[in-house]
Amino acid sequence: MGKKWLNIVYKEKNSTRLKKHYREWADGYDSDLKDWGYAYPSKVKQILEKYISIKKGSKILDAGCGTGYVAEVLKALRYNNIVGIDYSKDMLRVAHSKKIYKKLVCESLSKKTSLKGSQFDLVICTGVLTSGHVGPSSIKELIRLTKPGGYLILSISEKIFSKLGFKRELEKRSNEFNYIKLSKPFIALPNHKDSARSRMHTLQRV
Ligand SMILES: C[S@@+](CC[C@H](N)C(=O)[O-])C[C@H]1O[C@@H](n2cnc3c(N)ncnc32)[C@H](O)[C@@H]1O
Repeated sequence: MGKKWLNIVYKEKNSTRLKKHYREWADGYDSDLKDWGYAYPSKVKQILEKYISIKKGSKILDAGCGTGYVAEVLKALRYNNIVGIDYSKDMLRVAHSKKIYKKLVCESLSKKTSLKGSQFDLVICTGVLTSGHVGPSSIKELIRLTKPGGYLILSISEKIFSKLGFKRELEKRSNEFNYIKLSKPFIALPNHKDSARSRMHTLQRV
C-alpha cells in the first residue's frame, strides 16, 4: 500500500489536496518510512553529535513535524523541550500519541506563524521544504523563529534546490546566518526506487 504515497505527495501541487493525502497516509507513514530506510533521523543525530552543541533542555522546533518520526531521535538523545508544528491535524494526532512534544501547533508554515520570534535554540525542518509542501519564502519564517546564535537543520532535495528557488533564498538571506555544515548529497530513502538525493543544511543564525 505504501509505495504510491511518495510520488503522490511530492507531485501534488495543491496544498488542500496534499493535506488530504497526509490524512490518508498518517497511520501508515512511519512503517513506510522505516521500510524505505528514511535517512533523515540518523543525519539529524549525526549533526547534533558532531557539529552543533546545545543543552538537553534547549528549546527545539520541529517544523513540519508530521508524525514525529524524526523527533523520536531527539527523544532518544534526551532532548525534552520540543515543540512541533504541522498543518495536518492527522499527522499531529500520530505525533501526539508518542508523547515527545511539549506542545503541538496546527498551522501552516507557508505564512507567518503565530509563534513568538527568536525563541528556539534549534529549528529542524526535514522533508518539508520541497515541491507542493513549503516553499523558499518560508525560510524567512524559520529564521525568525530561531534565537540569535541558535541553529537550523534543513533538508533540501538536490533536484529542487535551485529549480524552486531555495538556493536563491538562502543566498539572499546569507547575512542572517552562517553555514555550519553542508552535508554531501545522500539518498533520503535508500530502499525506494524513486527517492531523491538530499543535503542537510546546518545554519547558525547571527
Ligand atoms: C514528508 S512529511 C515530513 C514529516 C517529518 N518532518 C519527517 O521528517 O518525518 C511532510 C510534512 O509536511 C507537512 N506540511 C506540508 N505542507 C505544509 C504547510 N504548508 N505547513 C505546515 N506543514 C506542512 C505535512 O503535513 C507533513 O506532515
